[in-house]
Amino acid sequence: MKKLAIAVLGLAGVVSFSAQAQLKPEDAIKNRQAAMKLVGYNFGSVGAMVNDRKPYNKDEAIRNASRIDALSSQPFEFFGAGTDKGDTKAKGGCLERHGAKFTAASEKFQAEAAKLAQVARAGDMAALKAQFNATAGTCKACHDDFREK
Ligand code: HEC
Repeated sequence: MKKLAIAVLGLAGVVSFSAQAQLKPEDAIKNRQAAMKLVGYNFGSVGAMVNDRKPYNKDEAIRNASRIDALSSQPFEFFGAGTDKGDTKAKGGCLERHGAKFTAASEKFQAEAAKLAQVARAGDMAALKAQFNATAGTCKACHDDFREK
């Protein structure tokens, strides 16, 4: 938990202190992958709860979903020029400073992530599961189009 908090603070620090344009491409790539990883970590936790792989805990679900919501725009600040090369699985097409299709995919995800946080607070498991699935659909849609297998 402490490590995660530090990682999140670290990301926030990077964002506030250096505009995206000043980041080296390899650092931008690392940041977006780190942000995705944190989204994935929290999303996996919600998924385990709604799919009976771990006990449902309302507070934890709220924490996870709120973090996903808070981080949902973060990865997309790091797809600027020059970040199509290097240690990345992002397909070139999404890197042209947010092609319209890529931006649309990221906005769909952000909208579902905001709903996920809302639904988690309501504490209804069936609704949470439905919203988890809706959100997962937006992850998959973007990964199918814009991420190498
Ligand atoms: C709009 C596009 C988009 C959406 C939406 C999206 N992703 Fe991603 N994701 C990517 C791209 C592109 C990469 C590859 C980044 C790279 O390698 O530079 C990625 C990488 C990842 C990674 C690997 C990070 C690493 O390198 O270790 C994880 C985990 C991940 N995404 C989880 C998720 C989850 C979970 C969701 C939804 C809750 C999600 N993503 C939504 C585009 C998206």
